[in-house]
Amino acid sequence: MPLRISPSILSADFVNLERDLQRIATADLVHVDVMDNHFVPNLTLGLPIVQRIQEVSPLPLDVHLMIEDADRWAPRYAETGAFSVTFSAEAARDPKTLARDIRGAGARAAVAVKPGTPVEPWLDLLDEIDMILVMTVEPGFGGQSFLDDTMPKLRKAREAIDASGLDVWLEVDGGINDRTIRTAVKNGADTVVAGSAVYAGDGSEPRDRIAALRLAAAPVA
Ligand code: DX5
Ligand code: ZN
Repeated sequence: MPLRISPSILSADFVNLERDLQRIATADLVHVDVMDNHFVPNLTLGLPIVQRIQEVSPLPLDVHLMIEDADRWAPRYAETGAFSVTFSAEAARDPKTLARDIRGAGARAAVAVKPGTPVEPWLDLLDEIDMILVMTVEPGFGGQSFLDDTMPKLRKAREAIDASGLDVWLEVDGGINDRTIRTAVKNGADTVVAGSAVYAGDGSEPRDRIAALRLAAAPVA
């Protein structure tokens, strides 16, 4: 299974965002966290900025919406040309229609579940979605600790996806570092978000951090 790394620009320097986007060009996707200060107690960026990121990013956009009224807004993010748009399960009123609207606007449709939200209802909708995001921290902030107790849920999703034979990706987001990435991959993740581990702020290059994460995920024997 190929591992995809999706660095989160939540830990990048927003004043030098174009530079920081170029610095992660060896990753697979760029993870863009959209927060509205209602669904989560934090505020980041919205449509016009996602549109500009789309125009300059060397990588496809993995947009993660932590906003209320996802049914209304998610398709608009898909229209920016984003590769993938993830809505929060807890914020969707009509998930099936919403997923179809995202796909209809040309993006992959994905659903995120908070640590306390069961994944089972979504396993019956696998043919309507392209990715499940299992949150491994409470959404809202970078730099939190990985919640190991989300792993049974990740395994359950992996089993259902494999049994379906569908091309549904399985992403984890939150607390990923050189140790926890191994845990996440062992439990079935094929797509991994990492914010503070990539933009470490300690002088290390994001490109080196990405390479270290890939190695940590699949150590050479
Ligand atoms: C948290 C965001 C994450 C965040 C992860 O709610 O969804 O994408 O950037 O940050 P780290 O990797 O530092 O936990
Ligand atoms: Zn995220």
